[in-house]
Amino acid sequence: MQFAQRVSNLEISGIRKLFEAAGPDSINLGLGQPDFDTPAHIKEAAIQAIQEGRTGYTPNLGIPELRQALSRKFERENGLSYAPSEIIVTAGASEALHIAMQAIINAGDRVLFSDPGFVSYGALAELAGGVPSPVPLDDHLNIDLDATFEAMDGARAIVLNSPANPTGVVETEETIRGIVEYADDQGVIVISDEVYEHFIYGATHYSAGRYGENVITINAASKTYAMTGWRVGSLAAPQEIIDECLKVHQYILACATSISQYAALAAYTGDQRVVTAMRDEYHARRDLLASGLKRMGFEFPLPEGAFYLFVPMDQDLIESIIQAGVIIVPGPAFGENGQGYARFSYAASRDMLNAALTRIQKLI
Ligand SMILES: Cc1ncc(COP(=O)(O)O)c(C=O)c1O
Repeated sequence: MQFAQRVSNLEISGIRKLFEAAGPDSINLGLGQPDFDTPAHIKEAAIQAIQEGRTGYTPNLGIPELRQALSRKFERENGLSYAPSEIIVTAGASEALHIAMQAIINAGDRVLFSDPGFVSYGALAELAGGVPSPVPLDDHLNIDLDATFEAMDGARAIVLNSPANPTGVVETEETIRGIVEYADDQGVIVISDEVYEHFIYGATHYSAGRYGENVITINAASKTYAMTGWRVGSLAAPQEIIDECLKVHQYILACATSISQYAALAAYTGDQRVVTAMRDEYHARRDLLASGLKRMGFEFPLPEGAFYLFVPMDQDLIESIIQAGVIIVPGPAFGENGQGYARFSYAASRDMLNAALTRIQKLI
């Protein structure tokens, strides 16, 4: 059978393949999602929405109350001023990334992103007809500004992701500002994926949208409120960008799930201590996992954000660890420059992390 070239060229994400191969008693440190349950008040808001029959299509942009709440959130937490009309409620950050690429990429346009970086960026750029253009990180796994500026020449868009998956690195204000300003000069659009913004341990998050008009801000309730399965995220940008993105969103989805939108409304307007409690727990887990691995002789800079450690190790050891029942993700799943690393997720209980450390210790 013949299939569309742009789809048959794509490979299925390496991460999924690993999970399918995992044994029944394995400890899963491969997951990119919170192991916490969605907070009770958020679930209750969804149940109430169902019971009150708020189950029809919503406006394409999303329910006005949620866009108002997001507009306030951006102002309060990010120093960004987006009117509710400049926000589209999406099916997670994934759909937001997809519609952004569809709206701005022409055939052959280059799209820059970090290598190693989140698996979707290159694939979504390709689906939009663009050319994925991975930019290697520096030796500390930070964005290499010189390499990025050089690669930006003639590019159409650059994806920024801080805190980053898979490295956990939080970029400085200087880097974020530098990229946005340089991109602006070059006519390059910045797609800023900020889904891990709340999981930062000591450093500060800087939203790219503070430094220029050429920015599309992508976010989601997924990680922040342990709501990955609810599929609710957002895309915020200046009006002319929103108008184009909305066309794609309207034809592929019509609107995000109504029930999830009411749940997200409760999340963004409710008690934010649920987020700080999760952050504090991730912080403790990061320290537990990192110090355990360091005691065994692994060397790596301590990442300041997300819930991942990106640890230098060779492929043989990665395979032995997986065979010993600890699922981790080999670095090449995140790009060519992930070679020689493995990603450990600490979105798993402290008991699980301790058990994983014991298995690895036995192995080495
Ligand atoms: C950097 C990054 N962006 C976006 C996503 C997708 O988020 P969502 O579940 O909201 O689609 C993920 C999920 O792992 C991610 O790590």
